[in-house]
Amino acid sequence: MKVLILPSKEAAILRAADIVAAQVRARSDCTLGLATGGTMLPLYAELAKRHQAGEFSMTGVTSFNLDEYVGLAADHPGSYHRYMAEALFDLTDMPIMRAHLPRGDAIDPKAEAMDYEARIAKAGGIDLQLLGIGQNGHIGFNEPTSSLGSRTRIKTLTDSTLEANRRYFDTDEEVPKYAITMGIATILEARACLLLALGESKAEAAAAMIEGPVSAMCPASALQMHAQTTVILDEAAASRL
Ligand code: GLP
Repeated sequence: MKVLILPSKEAAILRAADIVAAQVRARSDCTLGLATGGTMLPLYAELAKRHQAGEFSMTGVTSFNLDEYVGLAADHPGSYHRYMAEALFDLTDMPIMRAHLPRGDAIDPKAEAMDYEARIAKAGGIDLQLLGIGQNGHIGFNEPTSSLGSRTRIKTLTDSTLEANRRYFDTDEEVPKYAITMGIATILEARACLLLALGESKAEAAAAMIEGPVSAMCPASALQMHAQTTVILDEAAASRL
């Protein structure tokens, strides 16, 4: 695991964008694993800016998102489908046919989870997986106690995740309680991982991920076992190391 500590949030985002751009420049038809959450928004804005400026092109990229909420249709304002369309896909001409997310409104979410794994395998796996981290150490929606050998499946979200997600929905009742998420083993199969964590609220989770034992209590700690993982932190997120 390579850990880069940057002096500011802005510098951290620029460094992360450099790594993604280098991957896409090296292979314009690469497969990216994409993440959601507030942390990724400025990164996607930077990538869209560079794409629009002609510095590199996202048009040939295939993508697989980590997760989606069970029960939300693609056009629901709180869905990750909508998030991705607004944050990246619509700004970079990424063909929607190659931009994959689990279907949250699938009639059989379990079958959808298995099918999603098969779609990733059929595409030849993921070249670079982007990751954020939850305050409780989750990656994707692999909450603490998730098996380190887990595959794409349905997870029940913890109270702390429901609380963190509350801001994206109008009422408590609307906050989804389940998600389809790539498993930890699915994530570890990516050829490279890039985790971005910013701000003091991520400091404890970042320390557990980097310096703690490899444990299902901190799912992100599984990345210690992945040789091609880069973690980018700003100074605030690195403050407990
Ligand atoms: C959600 C996503 C994760 C993301 C996390 C952190 O739980 N499923 O992939 O890492 O949010 O979000 P934020 O960047 O808003 O702190």
